[in-house]
Amino acid sequence: MKKKLYFGRIKSRKISKIKEKNFKYFLKKNNINKLNLKKKLLLEVGIGMGENLIYLSKKNITKNIIGVDPFKNGMVNVSDYCINNNIKNIYLYPYVFQKFINKFKKLRFDIIYVLFPDPWPKKRHKKRRIINEEFLKKIFIILKKKGKVFFSTDNIDYFKNVKTIMKKLPYVKVKKVNKIVTIKTKFYLKAEKKGNKINSLLFSKY
Ligand SMILES: C[S@@+](CC[C@H](N)C(=O)[O-])C[C@H]1O[C@@H](n2cnc3c(N)ncnc32)[C@H](O)[C@@H]1O
Repeated sequence: MKKKLYFGRIKSRKISKIKEKNFKYFLKKNNINKLNLKKKLLLEVGIGMGENLIYLSKKNITKNIIGVDPFKNGMVNVSDYCINNNIKNIYLYPYVFQKFINKFKKLRFDIIYVLFPDPWPKKRHKKRRIINEEFLKKIFIILKKKGKVFFSTDNIDYFKNVKTIMKKLPYVKVKKVNKIVTIKTKFYLKAEKKGNKINSLLFSKY
């Protein structure tokens, strides 16, 4: 039996026909297969509504950025923004990360962001968490030497669990980051509103 890889919602609000059409056009035009591999490459896994992806694209105009997430409203939000604001360095993959990594085996990244992945706090749901040993091993294969990974969460159990896994992996340095790693995303703001402590880690490959 095929393993289920996504447990969230693909769609929340209704997407208009015109936005759907623009999204399809965007995916065709900004095709990941046509990426200029001479440029530095950034990746965000689980973009949500895409605030960080849009922020990164403006901060890194000479670099390309790929966003991976099956959540369609976020993807359409980003494609709409790119079309209306003439942003050319964002590429989108609207499926799960596990599929992305199997399809684009040769891509190598300078920076990878995984911000506020779904915490699945119930014990019986922990298996659903995207970050586990297998995920991290894959991340370090696609990360360039001296590349960086930023991870943030407001779930203390998830944070400790990732730290424990990281200790087992070779050629990786782990550092606790005490300031915000990028802009405040939707889930950063949610955590802040609840008064939750946000923990972040920086992994680098040597
Ligand atoms: C809690 S939200 C956080 C969104 C955003 N990073 C933020 O900070 O606001 C987690 C996101 O991860 C996405 N996600 C869940 N499983 C995924 C997978 N297997 N591959 C890629 N994205 C995934 C969800 O669709 C959702 O958009």
